Amino acid sequence: MKTFMKLVSFSIMTSLRGHRITFPVMWIIFTTAWAVKMNEDMEACLEVIPSLQYSCFKRNLSYIPTTIPPSTQHLDFSFNDLTTLQRDTFPRLPLLRHLDLTRCHIQHIDNEAFFNVRNLSVLILTGNPVKYFGRSSINVLEKIYKLVLADIGLFFLDRFNLRNLTNLKELKIGTNRLFSLALPTYAENFKDFTLLDLHTNNISVIRTVHTSVLRQMSSNLTLILSGNPISFIETGAFNGLYLREINLLNTISSTTTREALGGLSGLNVKKLKMGYFTEAGRIQMNPDYLDSICFINFQEIDFHHSTYFKLPSHILLCMSNSSKIVLTNVGIINREHVYFPNLEEIVVVKGKMAILPDVLLSHQHNLKKLVINYNHQTTEFKSFDDLPSLDYIDLSHNELIMNCCDIEFSGIPKLRYLNLSENARVKIRGLGLLNYPSLEILDLHGTEVEIEHDVAVMQNLKNLKTLDLSHSQIIFKSIVIFYGLSSLKELKMADNSFAKGIFGQLFSSLTALELLDISNCAIEDIPPTSFEDLHNLKNLILSGNKLTTMDFLTGLSLSKLKSLHTDNNHIASISPNVLQNIPVDILVFDLSFNPIECSCSQTEFISWIINHQSVLKDPHLISCKSSSLNSRVINFDPTHCVHKKRVIIIVSLFAVVIVFLLAALLYKYQFYIHYCFILLRGYRMSRQQECSYDAFVIYSSKDETWVLNELVENLENRPPPIQLCLHERDFQAGKSITSNIVDEGIMGSRKTIVVVSQHFLDSSWCQFEFELAQSWLVLRRNAGIIIIILEDVEGNNTRRLFGLHKYLRKNTYLKWKGNVVSNVRFWARLRKAILRN
Ligand SMILES: *[C@@H]1O[C@H](CO)[C@@H](O)[C@H](O)[C@H]1NC(C)=O
Ligand SMILES: *[C@@H]1O[C@H](CO)[C@@H](O)[C@H](O)[C@H]1NC(C)=O
Ligand SMILES: *[C@@H]1O[C@H](CO)[C@@H](O)[C@H](O)[C@H]1NC(C)=O
Ligand SMILES: *[C@@H]1O[C@H](CO)[C@@H](O)[C@H](O)[C@H]1NC(C)=O
Ligand SMILES: *[C@@H]1O[C@H](CO)[C@@H](O)[C@H](O)[C@H]1NC(C)=O
Ligand SMILES: *[C@@H]1O[C@H](CO)[C@@H](O)[C@H](O)[C@H]1NC(C)=O
Repeated sequence: MKTFMKLVSFSIMTSLRGHRITFPVMWIIFTTAWAVKMNEDMEACLEVIPSLQYSCFKRNLSYIPTTIPPSTQHLDFSFNDLTTLQRDTFPRLPLLRHLDLTRCHIQHIDNEAFFNVRNLSVLILTGNPVKYFGRSSINVLEKIYKLVLADIGLFFLDRFNLRNLTNLKELKIGTNRLFSLALPTYAENFKDFTLLDLHTNNISVIRTVHTSVLRQMSSNLTLILSGNPISFIETGAFNGLYLREINLLNTISSTTTREALGGLSGLNVKKLKMGYFTEAGRIQMNPDYLDSICFINFQEIDFHHSTYFKLPSHILLCMSNSSKIVLTNVGIINREHVYFPNLEEIVVVKGKMAILPDVLLSHQHNLKKLVINYNHQTTEFKSFDDLPSLDYIDLSHNELIMNCCDIEFSGIPKLRYLNLSENARVKIRGLGLLNYPSLEILDLHGTEVEIEHDVAVMQNLKNLKTLDLSHSQIIFKSIVIFYGLSSLKELKMADNSFAKGIFGQLFSSLTALELLDISNCAIEDIPPTSFEDLHNLKNLILSGNKLTTMDFLTGLSLSKLKSLHTDNNHIASISPNVLQNIPVDILVFDLSFNPIECSCSQTEFISWIINHQSVLKDPHLISCKSSSLNSRVINFDPTHCVHKKRVIIIVSLFAVVIVFLLAALLYKYQFYIHYCFILLRGYRMSRQQECSYDAFVIYSSKDETWVLNELVENLENRPPPIQLCLHERDFQAGKSITSNIVDEGIMGSRKTIVVVSQHFLDSSWCQFEFELAQSWLVLRRNAGIIIIILEDVEGNNTRRLFGLHKYLRKNTYLKWKGNVVSNVRFWARLRKAILRN
């Protein structure tokens, strides 16, 4: 029984193990295959958001790649090559919401073409030359709210059935050949329908029956008819119709008569767009067509002409109920005051200021926003008066010459935004800005600005947040100019200049400042106090100046700084103090186009640059100063400086060690060195010197008795007398012993007599003298040593200490015996040896 159980459990184990083996293998094979496949299609389609959004834009694909996963919600398949849409064209993509098939050469759309992508919200079929359109093909798309069928060669909207698209909001069928704006009756059920775009079709006649469906739809519809050659509108066609917007740009031709447009009367629309934006110059307008403006009830009008056009005054009166008027290339020739009770916003672009009388725009009590740009004539500005709601004035790009702003803008207490940029010249008088405490934005860039200096002209602008004085040809002369701007966040003053000594205190009252742009102001030096009070500074722009250092940042608290632009200056390096002060979470630091010094003394700075490339703007544009190749700082290798340093340290250590060694050696062998000097000196002197003694006697002073009694007695006092040099007697006082030995003894004598005894062997001084004599004789290459053995000394000792055996053989060697007979022979031989040359 037990054995059986074991067997069973074993077999179970093996089978399990088998599974554990085969499953991973299969999984690997499967995923590799999938990855390979994935890779193929990766080349074709871009994964915009993984598993959600893909783009196969312009890949010349003739099929939908199988790797588009079923989870895809957004597929851009535009500019490919599909030709035919059938049921199997799309894989099952139940979550697909957005499908773009723009310009895919689709000619044939089957009834079941969209069966697998039934849940689409947006379908774009623009620019396909569809020849066959399955009647119910689109009708399956019940959830669609935006359908774009532009430029597909459509003549009739009822070529297909849209009955089930009850969620449809936007139908864009522009650039086709439709000749009617009529929608099928079932479109009445499109509850949320808001946009019918029929631009550039072939609609020339609009009859009452065509608009009957529109009447049943919501009143929030935008109807775009621009670019249709409308020649006739049946009376009553639009009567009582409510629209959100109607676009009639480029619809009315020169042949259209006032009567033909009568059908627009009774139309109620929030926003009316009219005019011409192409070839208007060539079309001789029938001015009557403008009368249609007077037939329509509208709140906003956008009247656009591509060439200058004078608006007749009776047409202006037809706009008097508008809340917003936008006029482009339109001049108003009315010179009387017209009250626009609802007018909140007026925008006049490319008009003529001369015939846009100030009287017209004054006293508009609801006017909030006034924009006048690009007027054709250079004009002197007069004034606006009594505009109690006005908070926004944009008079930019007008070549105005004006004073500002106490008389010019009177009765505008709510002014919040004033844009006088890109004009000719604005003079700000001392009290000019006194009356606008609510002003938040003042833009004067690109306009020559004259400011009364020494007056705090902006002291009342407590709410001013943005001030742009760039390119204003101002020379800042007084430090009071920014007094009172306690809320100012942005100050742009690029391309101006500063009087000497002013910079340090100019910004001290701007404690809320977050952005300061003083680029291109030819600043050479910034005093350290300049930014001291700007605790909230986030962006500092100093580009295009002549700064050589950034030391002004040293003591500042810059914790909030997010961007710092110091490009195009003359900065060669930045000190570690400043680098430390740059916050770690800074987002942009621009140092490009500075003559950075790339040398080993700058390694800290250069390493900083290399390590902060993610923060530095265009790090590849930070170049080295001196290099003729204009090499990039980021390519500089600071590690080679470390090597250099190491080499220098090692070499100097080495030198120190050698000096020590030499000193030690010198100390140890000083005696020998001294000895060499002595020899050398003696050698040199011997050439001039004559010998004054016959023999120099080297002896131990303990043998003095023998020397004086025997040697001196027998040699000096018997004829012929031999002159001996004895150190005790003949050495000159006041001279060092060694000099004496050399000068007097060895060199001053022709021969040297060495008196060897046990005392001699015991005396190191004698040994020294003897060695000196030996060396000397070696130098002079003559054997001039006479050795007298005074008493028997141990042979070993002699050999060891002197190498005497050499001399005992080579030189004269005499032994003193002491008895009278041998003495006679001794003295005779000694004399002979001394006198021998
Ligand atoms: C597009 O693909 C077809 C074949 O599918 C090929 O004949 C044609 O040359 C390709 N066109 C381009 C522009 O790659
Ligand atoms: C349209 O809706 C009707 C009723 O809900 C349904 O019977 C019909 O199949 C739908 N048409 C298509 C093409 O899905
Ligand atoms: C526009 O319609 C007219 C008839 O109303 C027709 O003569 C003309 O050929 C059409 N134009 C186009 C481009 O289809
Ligand atoms: C009208 O349609 C616009 C979009 O065209 C939409 O933003 C707005 O909310 C709609 N208003 C109403 C009242 O439905
Ligand atoms: C302006 O509105 C008033 C009242 O709503 C109306 O009587 C008047 O005709 C309108 N003027 C124009 C030009 O539409
Ligand atoms: C002022 O007008 C100019 C030109 O139209 C524009 O570029 C600028 O952004 C405006 N200034 C502000 C602060 O909006």
